[in-house]
Amino acid sequence: MTNRSPLSRSYLAGFLLPLLLAAAPMAGQELPILSRCSGSGVERAVDSLLSLMTVDEKIGQMVQYSAERDTLRVGRLTVAQQELIREGAVGSILNLVGASVVHEAQRIAVEESRLGIPIIFGLDVIHGFRTIFPIPLASASTFDPDLVEKAERAAAREATAAGIHWTFAPMVDIARDPRWGRIAEGAGEDTYLGSAMAAARVRGFQDRDLSRPDALLACPKHFAAYGGAEGGRDYNTVDISERTLREVYLPPFHAAIDAGAGSIMCSFNEIAGVPSSSNKRLLTTILRGEWGFPGFVVSDWNSIGELLNHGIAAARSEAGAVALAAGVDMDMEANVYHQELREAVKRGEVTTDQLDRAVRRILRMKFALGLFADPYRGCDPANESAAVLAPEHRALARDVARRSIVLLKNEKGVLPLRRDAGTVAVVGPLADDAVDLLGPWSAEGRAEDVVTALRGLRSAATGEVNVEYARGCGIRDSSTSGFGEALALARRSDVVVAVVGESRSMSGEAASRSSLDLPGRQEELVEALVGTGKPVVVVLMNGRPLTIPWIADRAGAVVEAWFLGSEAGSALADVLFGEYNPSGRLPVTFPRSVGQIPIYYNHKNTGRPPSESDRWTSKYIDLPSTPLYPFGFGLSYTTFAHSGLALDRPVMHRNDTLTVLATVKNTGRRRGMETVQLYLHNSGANVTRPVQQLRGFRKVELNPGETGIVEFRLTEEELKFYDLDMHWTVKAGAFQVMVGPNCAETQSATFEYRP
Ligand code: NOJ
Repeated sequence: MTNRSPLSRSYLAGFLLPLLLAAAPMAGQELPILSRCSGSGVERAVDSLLSLMTVDEKIGQMVQYSAERDTLRVGRLTVAQQELIREGAVGSILNLVGASVVHEAQRIAVEESRLGIPIIFGLDVIHGFRTIFPIPLASASTFDPDLVEKAERAAAREATAAGIHWTFAPMVDIARDPRWGRIAEGAGEDTYLGSAMAAARVRGFQDRDLSRPDALLACPKHFAAYGGAEGGRDYNTVDISERTLREVYLPPFHAAIDAGAGSIMCSFNEIAGVPSSSNKRLLTTILRGEWGFPGFVVSDWNSIGELLNHGIAAARSEAGAVALAAGVDMDMEANVYHQELREAVKRGEVTTDQLDRAVRRILRMKFALGLFADPYRGCDPANESAAVLAPEHRALARDVARRSIVLLKNEKGVLPLRRDAGTVAVVGPLADDAVDLLGPWSAEGRAEDVVTALRGLRSAATGEVNVEYARGCGIRDSSTSGFGEALALARRSDVVVAVVGESRSMSGEAASRSSLDLPGRQEELVEALVGTGKPVVVVLMNGRPLTIPWIADRAGAVVEAWFLGSEAGSALADVLFGEYNPSGRLPVTFPRSVGQIPIYYNHKNTGRPPSESDRWTSKYIDLPSTPLYPFGFGLSYTTFAHSGLALDRPVMHRNDTLTVLATVKNTGRRRGMETVQLYLHNSGANVTRPVQQLRGFRKVELNPGETGIVEFRLTEEELKFYDLDMHWTVKAGAFQVMVGPNCAETQSATFEYRP
């Protein structure tokens, strides 16, 4: 049933539209997002609109549907969905992409629905739109939030040119368990780095002004603690303390909100018995009460419907009422709000005030995006084709990709490959693979746009380098029939580059693994290649840490390349041939074996810290207690010496800023970049504290022989923690400052905090 009336259309044109336009922000004005979406003009317009809306139209704004994607991944609206738009029963659509198709859907909403309220179109733009950037775990390895911000700006330009207003990103879940496939989508295990990346990504997506046609509304997710799933099994239960929730999992969300994120997505999981989609304390008390979040909350896909499986609601109507009361403003694809809220209002289980509150938040954001001023923002096919895969985006993707690569081992200078290297055997299932290099969640990314490792190496191989290729085996196959050819090639070559790892579908959503070994026969292939006696460079392409102790021990060089996106092969060639001196650092600990998990650097000391010489300490009897590679680790083609740690005062008082200086010298023969990391530990708190916590990092680029001094400034904020009574505070006592190239190699100094 449609509910259109020419009278109200003219009302809209004659009275409401001028009001809406007056309230709509002008492009170019640079007001903070908070004032943009709650200015009095906007509030008046929202009130006017609300006063015109029927209950059904209000509920419609709270509903999000997905377009159906055909085999070519082209999104289409069904006839039924188009009719729902005409009825004003759709506030948002996801997975409909492309200037023309979005324009048509928007036209139906604006011209054929009674009130003409524009739709907000969303998509998972997680690491690029058509130009695919490295997966977020990889780009976190840059330890360079400014660069990541630029990458998201490029992604936003492309996505908005294809009609998208809203991305379901950044994913800011802290992940301490690499079995969890979604570790690939975030910044890794550390809260401090994760918060810096979260804020940078929001800034990149949204820019300074949401109403600009190329600003993309951000949606930090999954609120909250989704990464804390027991056993690393996706969607599993989370049972963590309030302190861990607030100190480890929440800060990146808070940072994203402080950076202006206008929406947030709640998570599938429960925390200590309360599913996020029904968690009022999380979605209202903390998010709005404590943090002052002005935007709107969207559920995750069907997460409202899943309240029945959680056992929180006995019927879908109850699920809808509970979710709305908790603070979920928009229902992604569960169809619960659409089907249930109308009757729930009649029965008095849901109030119109509750609807108004949710609709208000959604409409405000539509205003902030300038959708009332120009519902077709971005929908220009000419602009779209100019923006996607723009040469400057590809160049940026290449730069981010090479800076994301982490050199884990380089024995006897196997790398960089010399220009007179002779024959380079490029072997392995990922060597000439394009589709997997896109990684999980690759939006509109296409395999045909990807520079494979082989292509990248071939085009970089000038002079006396001859690149030859043999696949060896598949990623997950059981066959070794390709080994013979690969080994024959290795034997007649001078150096072997083995490109191995995971397929893209082995990480991301619903891709938890119980083993982190190289899948299929790849480890055997590498062992056989090493057995030829030729120097072997192992290049890993993967969405999570892998357990590679044999390779770490026996390969000549190990390069962590993650999934690097469209320019993967060019970036890899830049690093392997030494055009770029690797500078990436691990944002996550590499375990020796899956049995060590969870293993993360900022753990507690315990009453019996591990000691190799004392059995009765906290450790495994069959493994060293250290990881294979620690958090923050990464090598360069040059070497650095760290020294001269100095604090400007022995005692820090309230409101003081403590300055920490450290000296780094490039002691090698090439220009290179070091990432100097500062960790803190405090004792004397009335609760136990992690052995160390990252509280700063600085990148410094030095010529051979050059010395640089890096400076960190610590305020009370960096010292705070949740005490016994859950107060966010600093306690008097001793603090240890540790500075170095990674968490395991630091110089240290102490100071006292005396308020
Ligand atoms: C489910 C995923 O958990 C979420 O991250 C994503 O944004 C939505 N699906 C929409 O695709």
